[in-house]
Amino acid sequence: MCGIVGYIGKKQAYPILIKGLKRLEYRGYDSAGVALLTDDNELKIYKTKGKVADLEAYSADKDISGTVGIAHTRWATHGEPNSTNAHPHISASGNLAIIHNGIIENYAVLKKQLCEYGVEFKSNTDTEVLVQLIDHIRVTHNVDLLTSVRLALRSVIGAYAIAILDKTDPNQIIAARKSSPLVVGIGDDEFFIGSDASPIIEYTNKVIYLDDGDIAVIRRDQEVKIVDFDNEENFRDIKEVELNLAQIEKDGFPHFMLKEIFEQPSCLKDCMRGRVNAETNKILLSAVIDHRDALINPRRIIIVACGTSWHAGLIGKQLIESFCKIPVEVEYASEFRYSNPVINNQDIVIAISQSGETADTLAAVELAKSKGAFIYGICNAIGSSIPRTTDTGSYIHVGPEIGVASTKAFTGQVTVLTMLALTLAEARGTIKHHEYTKIVKELMAIPDKMEELLKVNDKIKEISKVFTYAHNFLYLGRGYNYPVALEGALKLKEISYIHAEGYPAAEMKHGPIALIDEEMPVVVIATKNALYEKVVNNIQEIKARNARVLAIVSKDDEVVSKMADAYVELPETVECLEPMLATIPLQLIAYHVAVCKGKDVDRPRNLAKSVTVE
Ligand code: M6R
Repeated sequence: MCGIVGYIGKKQAYPILIKGLKRLEYRGYDSAGVALLTDDNELKIYKTKGKVADLEAYSADKDISGTVGIAHTRWATHGEPNSTNAHPHISASGNLAIIHNGIIENYAVLKKQLCEYGVEFKSNTDTEVLVQLIDHIRVTHNVDLLTSVRLALRSVIGAYAIAILDKTDPNQIIAARKSSPLVVGIGDDEFFIGSDASPIIEYTNKVIYLDDGDIAVIRRDQEVKIVDFDNEENFRDIKEVELNLAQIEKDGFPHFMLKEIFEQPSCLKDCMRGRVNAETNKILLSAVIDHRDALINPRRIIIVACGTSWHAGLIGKQLIESFCKIPVEVEYASEFRYSNPVINNQDIVIAISQSGETADTLAAVELAKSKGAFIYGICNAIGSSIPRTTDTGSYIHVGPEIGVASTKAFTGQVTVLTMLALTLAEARGTIKHHEYTKIVKELMAIPDKMEELLKVNDKIKEISKVFTYAHNFLYLGRGYNYPVALEGALKLKEISYIHAEGYPAAEMKHGPIALIDEEMPVVVIATKNALYEKVVNNIQEIKARNARVLAIVSKDDEVVSKMADAYVELPETVECLEPMLATIPLQLIAYHVAVCKGKDVDRPRNLAKSVTVE
């Protein structure tokens, strides 16, 4: 949801800012812009609709000198995505430039007041209101920039990560955050700002994660000073980021999404490393060791998440209910936060989020916390807001996920949920020892089975060519594979813009069957589990209506593979782990269909990787 980057130091800022924007482009790509204090001490702002490459082309013949600057890639909230509404926004005096990630909720009231003072606005954005307010306070009260920022932010309601450049002081950037992430990188005689560490890591691994209410004063040749709205100093630790450049580059793959699909075997090994012991076949989750009393006997568990993470939550519910015998509810975080839920201190809330920054999930966590629930986070981005708010949790450790379509985070989340369910079940005595051991062994074998399964990529590429013509898809699955059907449909629609529905297979005859004809391909997950025969019947019903069927089947299946127009075989595993394998061909189908259609796989329209606004 918008990426922000800043630089102050001895190097030329522009190339660092552009490279940083490219790393943050997954957060939004409706428009891009940069503000520089040039070598002639001019405040230059270049901005344009479109992607960072469009910004580069636009500024190619301009003065891009200067050793201090800020830059932004936008996911539009207020105001259409055009160059006027692109960031940076400049104040009426022409001295201040601002970039912003978030939403100023009371912008209309503030704007009305400023208009009454005669301030004229150029854009339709909430962000311009903020920079005008800061400038207005500075001019009317004759105070320094920090004071005017502090005073302005006191009257702001909403979420923000901001950075401000001041033409009258080329040695300073001021940055602040509330409910939107912001990281300050500490280099040698230079500082960086980023929405996350990815634009910074190439230059330094020393960072400060700003907290809500922090205002950072970043001056050349001085230590970063952080204060709160009352100008009280906040001391923040400098952390070392464990991120390397290779993790955030495509590594020879045409798209991040394909790289991330292929990374899954090694990511899941990382996810299990130190947690699953191959000699004892035991799982040790430090969160469960440290918080055993709080976790072992809840009245119920509520899982809150959005999108793909919500689909992982649906699998988590089945795992926890069947192994731990604890009732589990799975809620969309966006609904949960406004539903006045009945929760108390006997409940556990599990928040699942790849980014750890999703605004709705964060709000759901805060609500549950205020009602006394114990909060367990399952996140990927280290040091992000959700893990910092929860009581405990487990990182999925799959490395940065950059493709907007979530892939490796999903299988990482399911892996952690499996480990959590097994650990709690063992501690509660609700799972037989031999069953526990069998699943642990199967879990350890999943990465190798995924590796084997990924060899199907070329076949799926061919199959996808046939299916590219379709305007609608249906995805069907049952039991553990029903959430996989939902996830397959979401992947297809978000990157290929083909309408796709996921359904529990048996529900088909209660409505969706009316849609089925020869024009509508149906993807069916029909593995040999307890409900196999029933799914076979569903496939017969589909074939009777002349639809083309792409089936995901168990190894050596001889029934469905003959009925289907195309099929992909999965390596054998236990039923509860099938989702981790079954999801791989569905990720690949979505990817190849989108590529065949010429879509921008890593940056699908209207989406952003990290949804830090409501
Ligand atoms: O970072 P989160 O896991 O909280 O994100 C939740 C959703 O926004 C995310 O899963 C989204 O649905 C993806 N684009 C799906 O591929």
